[in-house]
Amino acid sequence: MTKPRLAVLGLSHGYKFVKRLLTCNFAKLVAVADISIETALKSYSVDESEVSEKSRLKDLDIKIFKDYKDLLTEMANEVDGVIAALPNDLHVEVTEESAKYGVPLMLEKPIASTISEGKRICEIVSQSHIKFMVAHHRRFSKLVNRSRDAVRRGELGKVIGANVLWVGKKPDEYFERSWRIDKTYGGPLLINTIHDVDDLRYIIGEIDRVQAYTTNQFRGNQVEDAGVIIIQFKNGALATIFLTDDCPSPWFYEACTQEYSFFYPSHFDCYYFFGEKASLAFPSMTLFSYEKEFGEGWHRPLHRQNLLVERSDVLEEELKHFCDLIMGKTESRMTADDAFETLRVIDAIKRSTQSGKSVRL
Ligand SMILES: NC(=O)c1ccc[n+]([C@@H]2O[C@H](COP(=O)([O-])OP(=O)(O)OC[C@H]3O[C@@H](n4cnc5c(N)ncnc54)[C@H](O)[C@@H]3O)[C@@H](O)[C@H]2O)c1
Repeated sequence: MTKPRLAVLGLSHGYKFVKRLLTCNFAKLVAVADISIETALKSYSVDESEVSEKSRLKDLDIKIFKDYKDLLTEMANEVDGVIAALPNDLHVEVTEESAKYGVPLMLEKPIASTISEGKRICEIVSQSHIKFMVAHHRRFSKLVNRSRDAVRRGELGKVIGANVLWVGKKPDEYFERSWRIDKTYGGPLLINTIHDVDDLRYIIGEIDRVQAYTTNQFRGNQVEDAGVIIIQFKNGALATIFLTDDCPSPWFYEACTQEYSFFYPSHFDCYYFFGEKASLAFPSMTLFSYEKEFGEGWHRPLHRQNLLVERSDVLEEELKHFCDLIMGKTESRMTADDAFETLRVIDAIKRSTQSGKSVRL
């Protein structure tokens, strides 16, 4: 097999994969499924150019289904892998269905919405041995990987901590999808902060303890609309995350990194990493440190340097990895167990907000 045959399930965020698969040379899109393609393509997360392309789907040599289960029943032998961008409440079910047919699965994050669902997915994957990855696409970001290298190679010295902002304003249409404000399946902690938590685990290391406060007083939905999280890592480093989805602001990962289109670009930083030797602003990748000849200390001049990072399309990198996984060329870079660890942190954060106490993982 040189070009895996893929299907995309769910065409809202999932359309971003369709778009890339239609033009790439490393995979072939053979089918898509969405209960309501029209609604999916009107979703808040689909940009204008994607909407104008929607009529093309019907003219292409791909099969179109409504229920994703019908796609799997009819085409299990004609697809080499599926990408599931379905609402969070369908993540267990779609993993069961893929395992039933032995079809490799790239499942959108979060792996699941609750600890019991997450455990179930880990069990299904380990018992069925299907090739599986969770689409925490930032693991494929060159900016994130360069930051990880800077920390892991000691360019910052011993890491003292980090400060993370995820502050943006979701448009009203975003809330038309009811699962996004469901207490179990939605909310910015599970939908957005899970990315930032995964970045921190990936860059700094495993998390030992969290303490968090959230509120829902601004939007008045059942789910949180702002929160502050304190994190203690096993290696002793500390971090804070401030999040809200109700504030006009340029300080959130998607706008700052501009790793894929849709979010209005900003030119600011949203993460700061602090070490004993240097500090790093992300994603401008500005590194501040002292130079030997000038001496150290807050009264001495700071050397400012930009770490050079090649830009790339993270979603394409992620798709390429899924194809390599299908073809047996690589191991999953985001296994069920790894994604479950990130979900455990979100669960601990939620438990801390309920108890008012810090929660040890
Ligand atoms: N990695 C990221 O940055 C990122 C970004 C956005 C969303 N996501 C994840 O992608 C998933 C989908 O999110 P979204 O914002 O696109 O949600 P959405 O609700 O906008 O879209 C889900 C789509 O699935 C379709 N669907 C529902 N049931 C179906 C079924 N049985 N068969 C076929 N289609 C069905 C719906 O019609 C809808 O179009 C979620 O898990 C979300 O967390 C990830």
